[in-house]
Amino acid sequence: MFVTVLLLLVTLCAQRGNGEERAEAQRPGHVSVVIVGGTGDLAKKYLWQGFFELYVNQVSSGNTFSFYGGGLSPADAATPVLFEILKAVSCSKNVSQDRCALLKDQYLRLAQYRQLKSLEDYQELAKHIEQELQQEGITEAGRLFYLSVPAFAYADVSEKINNSCRPTNGAWLRVVLEKPFGHDFRSAQVLASQLGSCLKDEEMYRIDHYLGKQVVAKILPFRIENKKFLDPIWNKHHIERVEIVMKETLDVKGRIPFYDQYGVIRDVLQNHMTEVMTLLTMRLPMNLSSSEEVLQNKLQIFSSMLPLGKSQAVVGQYQAYKTAVQQELNKTKDHVCLTPTFAAVLAHIDDAQYEGVPILLISGKMLDERVGYARILFKNDIFCLQNHNSVHCKPKQVVFYFGHGSLKYPAILVSKNLFKPVLMDGEWKEVTEPTDVNILGLPISDYYVQTPTEQREAYSELISHIFAGRKNSFISTENLLASWGLWTPLLNSLANSFPRIYPGGADNGDLLDIRVKGKDIGYNSEVVIISPDQMGDMSAKGFQVMQGKFRGADMVSAWTEELVERLAADIQEAAEAAVHQGGVFHLALSGGSTPLALFHRLALHHFSFPWRNTHVWMVDERCVPLTEMDSNFHGMHDHLLQHVRIPYYNIHPMPVQLNQRLCVEEDGGALLYEKEVSKFVNGSSFHFVLLGVGYDSHTASLFPGSKVDEFGESLVALTESPVKPHQRMSLTFSAINRARTVALLVMGKGKHELITQLSRVKDNPDKWPVTGVKPADGRLVWYIDYDALLG
Ligand SMILES: *[C@@H]1O[C@H](CO)[C@@H](O)[C@H](O)[C@H]1NC(C)=O
Ligand SMILES: *[C@@H]1O[C@H](CO)[C@@H](O)[C@H](O)[C@H]1NC(C)=O
Ligand SMILES: *[C@@H]1O[C@H](CO)[C@@H](O)[C@H](O)[C@H]1NC(C)=O
Ligand SMILES: *[C@@H]1O[C@H](CO)[C@@H](O)[C@H](O)[C@H]1NC(C)=O
Ligand SMILES: *[C@@H]1O[C@H](CO)[C@@H](O)[C@H](O)[C@H]1NC(C)=O
Repeated sequence: MFVTVLLLLVTLCAQRGNGEERAEAQRPGHVSVVIVGGTGDLAKKYLWQGFFELYVNQVSSGNTFSFYGGGLSPADAATPVLFEILKAVSCSKNVSQDRCALLKDQYLRLAQYRQLKSLEDYQELAKHIEQELQQEGITEAGRLFYLSVPAFAYADVSEKINNSCRPTNGAWLRVVLEKPFGHDFRSAQVLASQLGSCLKDEEMYRIDHYLGKQVVAKILPFRIENKKFLDPIWNKHHIERVEIVMKETLDVKGRIPFYDQYGVIRDVLQNHMTEVMTLLTMRLPMNLSSSEEVLQNKLQIFSSMLPLGKSQAVVGQYQAYKTAVQQELNKTKDHVCLTPTFAAVLAHIDDAQYEGVPILLISGKMLDERVGYARILFKNDIFCLQNHNSVHCKPKQVVFYFGHGSLKYPAILVSKNLFKPVLMDGEWKEVTEPTDVNILGLPISDYYVQTPTEQREAYSELISHIFAGRKNSFISTENLLASWGLWTPLLNSLANSFPRIYPGGADNGDLLDIRVKGKDIGYNSEVVIISPDQMGDMSAKGFQVMQGKFRGADMVSAWTEELVERLAADIQEAAEAAVHQGGVFHLALSGGSTPLALFHRLALHHFSFPWRNTHVWMVDERCVPLTEMDSNFHGMHDHLLQHVRIPYYNIHPMPVQLNQRLCVEEDGGALLYEKEVSKFVNGSSFHFVLLGVGYDSHTASLFPGSKVDEFGESLVALTESPVKPHQRMSLTFSAINRARTVALLVMGKGKHELITQLSRVKDNPDKWPVTGVKPADGRLVWYIDYDALLG
């Protein structure tokens, strides 16, 4: 008893002395390491070795250790298994044999197996730790729990740790977790909040073992050390593209029950490759040791990324995968399996520094070689007329070579036509021995090469960072959720995509070559290999665009994405025809959320759209200032106009705000707009009018019950909406029905009932305003997606 009290006093004083978290973390004392899942594969392969290295490095630091391997099996069965694993650990080269034998012997004596199943087991463990501290009369520094268990067990184990294993004397608690951290944004959020109720954020260490790779860990220091060379060229004017590539030769045999729920995007792109991307592109922190600053700079990258959709990815699946799934998951032959084992994704950071720079993230199983690297390829602005092999005309690039592949060591390579990089701190050396290797199009002799003096396993590296409390090498909750926020929409949009089947290995040939087309990515060759049985019952869904009639007018129908593509193409065609004929195209657009996908499509894909000759008009506007989110113009500006090169004087917002007030009849806003239309638009006849339909069948801002006749011949009128903001300004049927083409866009399951009703009712614009759309000399086309058409 006396000992405990004394211990507490010592602890409290020590704490008061240096309140800071980091200093406290370094207070020497006893450390209990618990590997939950201590006889599993990961523990066997990396963790016990990593903790041995930690032990060896800490032997003379004043810290003492005990190690526990925890598991569900009873101790008598698992203890021999654990000791077989422990006996296999090895020392680094500079440790003598005798010393190594001694250290290993100590390590083994400090380790024990404990069954960790029930809450009582955890309580017993805590009691054991406390007794040991008392008996030895030592201060506790901290407790480190490494959860090497399936993710579904995290919440449960964390709860048990919080309930029974928290150190009570001011020592630290660190709990280490391995991916997967959820399989999409929602599940990651749920898991994060479950863990958050048991553990503080600073107690959680989420491992992304890529961050422990020596070259990955040096990306930021390299960028900082070489800032004077990189600053002028690390931007859209000089970077041709960024590639982050992780090729594997192995298949996933034996791991299918896990892998089939994830696929390559969740398995490596969402985590490892995204981390590398943020390290390459984030703003350099002023203070590299400030994990808060590093995190904020990473989050800024996530917030500037263009959204990822179906057109930004290609997916593949190696041929034998399907059979493996049938075997390992007991599925029948006609089981449809769309899980990608290969993916190439095209990302863009839409900020002033990187706007337009393609960032490729590529990974796959069963490829021709095992290699991981990130390459920044720079534009070459020198044209060699004769000597194409001149150094000036060779690729200019910086390559972060993570490992494997033709180079046998991890390295950072800078092509000699760029600059001579600063050598990283003492643990790195320059490679000058001549070898006959080619790396990404250049012989190794054309690079400055540096490599770590001693290669270390990522896990050993990270374990030493956990011990030192260096949170930078781990994934915070915010970072995790931001990453899922980026990837989840893409995963959803790919849910029904057929991966391209590839044979595997060298036989893949050029089947997986990809091509970047503007903001889109595609396979370079058009071959599509889908075995008929792969289609299963999904073939019934059909993916093509359907033509038909609706309410006596033309109708185009398709799945949402194809429908939007088609409408965008039709608008461009109308624009080109009008410009060809009269030099100008008058386009009137609706607001609201329905056309946003169309706006994105036009902004991101229609680079040859004749915006310079296009006038953009508004179909309707809410009576709010243009700067408010509610304003239709605001939405149109943010989602379309600011992304295209349209002259300012071709943009015609509705004048809802005059004389410092909104939509007052006597201010004559409607009449003003009508005059503007007559002034610019020949015969006040727009070339193209895009309309939507509300649930109550209103179109533009013409609502049920408004007396259409009241507007007479007026082209623009003030109207009343049943929902807020009530006041609107709108084109009238007189204006709409003069148009050459009117497109009515209807999307989403929610509109199915409306579409069904509209297919039956007669024209009655007072009750069903949209039925008043009847272009006198023009054409009406309904664009209805399958969700709205078929429900
Ligand atoms: C052995 O090498 C490791 C890693 O470079 C180093 O940390 C350690 O101090 C060295 N040990 C001895 C005994 O030289
Ligand atoms: C841990 O458990 C206690 C109850 O034993 C609870 O009050 C606390 O909020 C839990 N979470 C954290 C982060 O301490
Ligand atoms: C950098 O950040 C670390 C960790 O927050 C802090 O201890 C250190 O004082 C900071 N250094 C400078 C120069 O601000
Ligand atoms: C598949 O079936 C075998 C034998 O019927 C069984 O042992 C195995 O557990 C099953 N696997 C799965 C994933 O259901
Ligand atoms: C205006 O429209 C009329 C009727 O459609 C057409 O005959 C005339 O050529 C047009 N004028 C111009 C300048 O495009």
